Amino acid sequence: MRLDFMHPADQLVAYMTRIYNNGLTTASGGNLSILDSNGHIWITPTRMDKGILNRIDMVQITENGPVTHHVAPSSELPFHQAIYKSRSNIKAVLHAHSPALIAFCLMRKLPNVHLIPVTRIVCGPITMAPYARMGSNELGEVLAEEFKKGVAVVLMENHGVVVAAESLQKAYAIFETLETSARIELMANRLGKPRALTEDQIDIARTKEHTRMSELSQRARSPEELGLRRDLTRMLQRAVDQKLFAASQGTISARMSDGSFLISPFGRDRREIDAEDLVLVRRGLKESGKVPSRAVFIHEMIYHRNPGIQAIINAQPPHIMAFTLTDQTLDFKSLPEPYIMLHDMPRATYGFNYTEPQQTAALFSATTPSILLENDGIIVTGRDVAQAYDRLEVAEFTARAYLELPSLDKMIQLTEQQRADLDEYFPV
Ligand code: 13P
Repeated sequence: MRLDFMHPADQLVAYMTRIYNNGLTTASGGNLSILDSNGHIWITPTRMDKGILNRIDMVQITENGPVTHHVAPSSELPFHQAIYKSRSNIKAVLHAHSPALIAFCLMRKLPNVHLIPVTRIVCGPITMAPYARMGSNELGEVLAEEFKKGVAVVLMENHGVVVAAESLQKAYAIFETLETSARIELMANRLGKPRALTEDQIDIARTKEHTRMSELSQRARSPEELGLRRDLTRMLQRAVDQKLFAASQGTISARMSDGSFLISPFGRDRREIDAEDLVLVRRGLKESGKVPSRAVFIHEMIYHRNPGIQAIINAQPPHIMAFTLTDQTLDFKSLPEPYIMLHDMPRATYGFNYTEPQQTAALFSATTPSILLENDGIIVTGRDVAQAYDRLEVAEFTARAYLELPSLDKMIQLTEQQRADLDEYFPV
């Protein structure tokens, strides 16, 4: 359901449940609030299990104080109120104790938002507020000072993170994006020195070209198209649930027998995409009234050059991302199943898929079903949606296994002969 049609209490429950289920806060930690169109704050209750909240437990705060009395509002109400006073465009506030951001709060260091383009684009610049005791008016004062600078994210020394935005949906996307990026940065540091991008490099990912496509004329939808809309929608949700996609990252497309393809839309929360939101693309034209993913041109070019490819996924799963931020090789040569499913995975320099789509598309072949993009993730293809998805999951599990090693040099490689044996028994 569209968030702007949901009651504030229901939004608070939906997002606190999502944060808890994603492992981004504890039963007792974190709080959320919304400023409604009457100027009243709706806030999560204090001292209640954040994993099992109900709408009746949400507390409305009017000019006369809390309206409901069976539960008390969050102990952090003072800082939520101070943040709403600090800037008129803030309509939702999110506070959580998510592990990777806590690690940065403990180091009193900001995560680098210039490592991954989507982090910079979604989160903007971020700041750190000096330590103040939880629940105190002083904490509200120090946070309000930071939000007056126009930022959406403030880390709190030795405490956690606060995000303020025009909607709870946006606040959640910012929060999830930054927490994931912070986790990737911590993992990448174990592999080498993470490569930071300049603003000019990040601008490459801010392309607007996908918004300027001409529109297709309407025609009846075939059963093939309707079936594919259903399958892609299910796969999108699954990819989010398996942490291969997130609210603000992940693109999927699949081609139909007439050469047209369906692709996920631009800028939408991947968990909320329905069958009708997918965008039909045919010969450079897009379905009217919709905006396809920024990846639409590279997907079109890959389909054009590779008749055997019927499905494509762009993703930024955390463990694969850690490798793409450093010069550390990610190969699949030492595990039989990843090897026969993924073979070679070349690495394209940052931005190559935007600036050289033809050459990027030419990298794919029967033994190269996927490529890594520096600082930008992976493009994986398949003969159908299920194969592309499976390859993505296998690549991420493998990257994760490598990161679980005490160090990469502990890995014992398969011999040339063992690989030759696999090539013989599992020919491409
Ligand atoms: P509440 O349960 O009172 O919202 O407190 C949780 C918390 O995270 C304090 O910073």
